[in-house]
Amino acid sequence: MSQDTLNIALLGHRFMGRAHSNAWLQSTHFFDPKLKPVLKVACGRDEADLQAFADRWGWEEIETDWKKVIARDDIDVIDIALPTFMHAEVTIAAAEAGKHIFCEKPFANTLEESEAMLAAAKKAGVVHYVNHNYRRCPAVFLAKQMIDEGALGEIYHWRGAYQQSWLVNKDHPIDWKLKRKLAAAGPLWDLGSHAIDLAHFIVGSDFKNLTCQSKNFVTQRPLAESPEQIADVEVECAALMMGEFKNGALASIETTRYATGRRNRHTFEIYGSKGSLSWDMEDMNRLKYFNQDDPEKAVGWRDILATERCHDYVKNWWPPGHIIGYEHTFVHAVVDFIDAVADGTSLFPDFSDGAKITRVLEAALESAESGARVNL
Ligand SMILES: NC(=O)c1ccc[n+]([C@@H]2O[C@H](COP(=O)([O-])OP(=O)(O)OC[C@H]3O[C@@H](n4cnc5c(N)ncnc54)[C@H](O)[C@@H]3O)[C@@H](O)[C@H]2O)c1
Repeated sequence: MSQDTLNIALLGHRFMGRAHSNAWLQSTHFFDPKLKPVLKVACGRDEADLQAFADRWGWEEIETDWKKVIARDDIDVIDIALPTFMHAEVTIAAAEAGKHIFCEKPFANTLEESEAMLAAAKKAGVVHYVNHNYRRCPAVFLAKQMIDEGALGEIYHWRGAYQQSWLVNKDHPIDWKLKRKLAAAGPLWDLGSHAIDLAHFIVGSDFKNLTCQSKNFVTQRPLAESPEQIADVEVECAALMMGEFKNGALASIETTRYATGRRNRHTFEIYGSKGSLSWDMEDMNRLKYFNQDDPEKAVGWRDILATERCHDYVKNWWPPGHIIGYEHTFVHAVVDFIDAVADGTSLFPDFSDGAKITRVLEAALESAESGARVNL
């Protein structure tokens, strides 16, 4: 790291690779991070695709061997946009090489992996971050702030749901996300990790216990690598989790890839003694608020558009009412990450949050399999 630059290596160049490239680039267009990110090297498996990707986004070099990327002395940050089953090996190698780590979610496939990743990052003294980017929606930050300020009083209920519909198509092939060894589980892991992170963040308490029930609606599909071959789907299609937080609030979390018509509906509802909040990712600038103390004649849900200059991150974008979107949450994350590296501070959610979420996910999986309640 030179005095004012930060050299980034991106591993993975598809969905998240694009989101991260955009974020590193936009960070200096709209914010003033304390270091300037340099898009040094992009890594993936398909060389021709990778080169086209690097040319489009301005990555200086490409590399197909991630180990060579980590071995380079001129790289400061390893940005992991790889399938989850690779996170542990890559993260531990990056930490051992003294690199700061920006890692996609779900953090890991097992608690054991999570703990080894956390230990390696702590030992290396590097900045370690897990990209639960939904935390960095201004409306979500506002929800957290209002709860911390006591606007909801005692929290009674957390009702979270992360619903997608891409598996309603029965021809959708089996890729890494439908293989248990590679993905650990289905939507419970992939979507549930985000939903649990928001619950931990906003409610501010950990799970005391939980139960989970899962279901497989479609048990066989063609294989992505050889579509003429039909194989078993190895992960659940949907999971319903319920439990209690240590602060006494009750929680339910629904995750599914079979919610026909729901494309990426990530929602929460929080009900408290003094008021309630609700949020939906598909309308992410809006936070709905019910105040129990409103006068009877004006009772009702308030619609707060979190695009005022006082809302976190917003003043760097557009004037009030000029909404922001999905990609902005990634920009917010990289700006905070760069500043954490510059200042030598932590950035949340970090690997200890990642490990905590993995513990809840493992408990949910255990409950779905045994039918029993699990104490955490
Ligand atoms: N934060 C979010 O909202 C969000 C959204 C989608 C995915 N994700 C997470 O991001 C990660 C990546 O998901 P994705 O959807 O971008 O996956 P993807 O399958 O679209 O892309 C995976 C990338 O990894 C590369 N790759 C695979 N094996 C490799 C190897 N051995 N060496 C080098 N490169 C290799 C592939 O070439 C590809 O570029 C996953 O952990 C996923 O859960 C997060």
